[in-house]
Amino acid sequence: MKNKSISGFSKLSKSQKLEWLADNYLLNKEDSVHDLNYFWLPDADTQKVMDGFSENTVSNFIMPYGLAPNFLIDGVVFCVPMVIEESSVVAAASSAAKYWMDRGGFKTTVLGTTKVGQVHFKWFGDSNLLKSLFADIEIHLRSNVGILVDNMTKRGGGITSIELLDFTQFETGLYQIRAHFETCDSMGANFINSVLENFASTLENYLIDCDKIPEDARDVDIIMAILSNYTPNCLVRAEVSCPVKDLGTFSNGMLAEQLAEKFRTAINIARIDPYRATTHNKGIFNGIDAVILATGNDFRATEAAGHTYAARDGQYRSLSYCDIQNDVFRFWLDIPLAIGTVGGLTSLHPLAKKSLEILGNPSAEQLMRIIASVGLAQNFAAVRSLVTTGIQQGHMKMHLMNIMNHLQATEKECASAIAWFEDKTISFAAVRDFLSDLRSK
Ligand code: MEV
Repeated sequence: MKNKSISGFSKLSKSQKLEWLADNYLLNKEDSVHDLNYFWLPDADTQKVMDGFSENTVSNFIMPYGLAPNFLIDGVVFCVPMVIEESSVVAAASSAAKYWMDRGGFKTTVLGTTKVGQVHFKWFGDSNLLKSLFADIEIHLRSNVGILVDNMTKRGGGITSIELLDFTQFETGLYQIRAHFETCDSMGANFINSVLENFASTLENYLIDCDKIPEDARDVDIIMAILSNYTPNCLVRAEVSCPVKDLGTFSNGMLAEQLAEKFRTAINIARIDPYRATTHNKGIFNGIDAVILATGNDFRATEAAGHTYAARDGQYRSLSYCDIQNDVFRFWLDIPLAIGTVGGLTSLHPLAKKSLEILGNPSAEQLMRIIASVGLAQNFAAVRSLVTTGIQQGHMKMHLMNIMNHLQATEKECASAIAWFEDKTISFAAVRDFLSDLRSK
């Protein structure tokens, strides 16, 4: 078997990398290299910026960039850019946005903006001594970090609190410094991690120099210093509400009262059952991730925080809630969103920058409000479909259009296909046969 390992891959030029890839992993060298080259940006400078985001880049992976207009959020109408490959998501968000625009729109509350970082360390001295010294240690941590936080402090952020946590019941000698941060409009990962690494070296030096500590307990073993992606206090609530009677009637003839009650039960099922909760929250993240991506934020961080938050009482549950009281239907979502509108990809990626412009160059707090509203809209649209017509009706229509596009159908052929498949099962073969029949006539 051919040895496909390589050393020094990162040092090869782009065309050498492609050459090597084609020689080792691709069947038809010319076509494959052409396919990968095809997605290079024509503008070399922008391509260079893209390459700079990652390593060993040999092409760009493009995704659809869509718009969901008519989002009335706290009295302002937004048109929201969404990057997502799944059909129906942008259509569903737009439909829910329009629906709630006619019923007062989305109201949001930022419940907190604090982020968290940790220094994990091992120390084998007297635990009470460490705790009694911690107020003094904190003074050193804060004063040594000086210049790193000066800029953030000028912008209104910085370190809000520092605490010592004792984990020795779980592992001998294990402690944690947990610090809380305000990072203003930046996501703050680099800032927090730099401060934490500075904390770690300050702690090491403090314990070496402190004459209150016995000689044999002056060594500390820093395990790691890193932010936590769990940000339960960087939290936003988005909600919608209206009198039950104003919910209207639905495509399958369902009345407002029936819809409200079924919808409430559907949300409750996702609070009771983790199997349903996972799918339910996935639907919320369909919207959230799409805006996170469009604005150059970190969707892995947001997902991780959201799922941990969903399991905060020990069971994984729905991130959204529904309540009907005094004939008023209320539906809301609480979600941790540690995001930024300055720094990182937000200003470097040309389309992330454009997305922020479309959204009126929001602050991080404003973007939290917008993203939570899109998550709620997405969830509303999905559950509304599920408890009325079922999800497949809309999905299959999009699927039909995808197949028709793939088969290079004209607009007229698409219209005929929509009418024909109204009451028939859609599959690739069925659509292909339908089209060839149509074309042979
Ligand atoms: C599909 O991407 C998302 C849904 O499954 C969400 C849900 O079931 O609530 C439709």
